[in-house]
Amino acid sequence: MKRVLFATLAILIIMAAAVSLAGVIETKHNFTSVTYSPNAFFYGTRQVCVFCHTTHNGDQSIGALWNHENNPPLYQTYNSSTIDMTISQPHDGSLVCLTCHDGTIAVNSLNNLPGPEGAGNYGTPGGSGLDAGGKLTSSSHAYVGTDLTDDHPVGVTYDASKDPTGFVSKTGNGQLYPDKLLDDGLYVECSSCHNPHDDTYTNFLIESNENSNLCTRCHTK
Ligand code: HEC
Ligand code: HEC
Ligand code: HEC
Ligand code: HEC
Repeated sequence: MKRVLFATLAILIIMAAAVSLAGVIETKHNFTSVTYSPNAFFYGTRQVCVFCHTTHNGDQSIGALWNHENNPPLYQTYNSSTIDMTISQPHDGSLVCLTCHDGTIAVNSLNNLPGPEGAGNYGTPGGSGLDAGGKLTSSSHAYVGTDLTDDHPVGVTYDASKDPTGFVSKTGNGQLYPDKLLDDGLYVECSSCHNPHDDTYTNFLIESNENSNLCTRCHTK
């Protein structure tokens, strides 16, 4: 009986994994595929998750068994006279994206290549979004660069008390908005608005932004 239960459980787990696999595979974050990522892919590659994760020797300073080279430069942070909260250098929830999207590191520069090689570059670049070294080019629509002054602020310590009429207060419950959007329950980062595995709502948004639904999770206007 126990064995049957265990086998059923194992099948369920494999099925659940297959469902989430289909997610990222059919997106522009599948760099093995000219079909899904025509502007940025790598010849001679077969593994999808490995561009971001590894099963061994992951970079746990950033989390999620991180496999992409992470060598953050100093970013120019957002500033304006109407900002009330504290904005600092981006935290992990943004660094995981900027390691590719700031254009300073090759998309295929990994800590742990498939097989025994260790660190190095996986495959050879193809597509107009990448330069010959595999970095995102500044002409790519996905290029964010190191100048974050023209992007929605990240590295923000969310504190609605600094502007109570402009922002939704935190609840103290990580399951509820706006808390569930905050990195480590504290910061506004790329991961507040984007889910790199799922393109259901386009642009890897975490949810639909119809009627500015996403914006009003935090902003009251
Ligand atoms: C383009 C990069 C990228 C690719 C490709 C990718 N992931 Fe992720 N994954 C991330 C990021 C970013 C996180 C969040 C890490 C963090 O914030 O610490 C994450 C987190 C995770 C987590 C932790 C739980 C969660 O959802 O936050 C799991 C499990 C995971 N990924 C599995 C996979 C699997 C399996 C694949 C391949 C089918 C895959 N990922 C492909 C970027 C990627
Ligand atoms: C391993 C490198 C890598 C990582 C890590 C990564 N991306 Fe990307 N991302 C890319 C590349 C390459 C493209 C495709 C560019 C193209 O098509 O020209 C892309 C495309 C995108 C797009 C555009 C999608 C579209 O439909 O045009 C968005 C949005 C995006 N990424 C957000 C993120 C966010 C947010 C994170 C972190 C949570 C992240 N990415 C992590 C490399 C990466
Ligand atoms: C407050 C929410 C929010 C944050 C934070 C955020 N984004 Fe976005 N991002 C969006 C929305 C909404 C779009 C879609 C814009 C559109 O449809 O024109 C988008 C689009 C993009 C695109 C597609 C190209 C473009 O400009 O339209 C990329 C790439 C991207 N984001 C990367 C990032 C990265 C990397 C970070 C962190 C440094 C980040 N985003 C932080 C909401 C956000
Ligand atoms: C996770 C919470 C969150 C989400 C979601 C969010 N924002 Fe923000 N946004 C902030 C915070 C925090 C600031 C910095 C506010 C401050 O310091 O006064 C900010 C700043 C801004 C600013 C700059 C304001 C200024 O004074 O210069 C604009 C514009 C903005 N957000 C627009 C948007 C839009 C549009 C969306 C939806 C696509 C969005 N935000 C989604 C939290 C969020």
